[in-house]
Amino acid sequence: MRYRIAPSLLSADFARLGEEVRAVAAAGADLVHLDVMDNHYVPNLTVGPLVCAALRPHTTLPIDVHLMVRPVDPLVAEFAKAGANMISFHPEASDHVDRTIGLIREAGCKAGLALNPATPLVWLDHTLEKLDFVLLMSVNPGFGGQQFIAAVLPKIAEARRRIDAVAQRTGREIWLEVDGGVKADNVADIARAGADTFVAGSAIFGAPDYGAAIRDFRARLAEVARAGELRV
Ligand code: DX5
Ligand code: ZN
Repeated sequence: MRYRIAPSLLSADFARLGEEVRAVAAAGADLVHLDVMDNHYVPNLTVGPLVCAALRPHTTLPIDVHLMVRPVDPLVAEFAKAGANMISFHPEASDHVDRTIGLIREAGCKAGLALNPATPLVWLDHTLEKLDFVLLMSVNPGFGGQQFIAAVLPKIAEARRRIDAVAQRTGREIWLEVDGGVKADNVADIARAGADTFVAGSAIFGAPDYGAAIRDFRARLAEVARAGELRV
């Protein structure tokens, strides 16, 4: 198990998205996080599969598509065709959560369930064994640059316990991704709580040097690992 850093393009320069993707890849990112918002499920509007397809040739990194849309299902195949490697969605936005997970996996992508700060982990009860990752939102979805909601930390720890239990029973690898308000000064706390994958928009794209920002994250994560506070 290792830590992964996923810059969120929401805070990138949208007029130069291809360049921005290449820049964060060169800066040491592990994934590229693409926030898809529809102005229905969340009060903001971003990009669709066309933009994902346009970005695909710019990187070999996995593209992590975070769907904040309703309905979900028709977009799953579109994003898979557009080169997405991971697709997460919010269970409140799907009428048939198990079906949506199945569609994502059948399309050849890793499937993730995205839970808002006030959405309970009970959604994992009958889904976790089919998921490749869990995305815990640490802000309310819709915008970059919001403040991390600290009440999510114990929820991360509980999600980690559930994931470890499934991993032990089935050998499945399930990533635990945290999204929203992740900065260099709280990434260690989030890792200690049990996250392994960190989405960061404004903390990376708002920095003058993307490489330095990612190195700062890694240095703080390495300290957590060294202290043995989380197995790596
Ligand atoms: C919010 C998005 C996040 C957002 C994170 O709805 O899902 O991915 O871009 O941005 P920061 O890191 O600035 O909170
Ligand atoms: Zn996101």
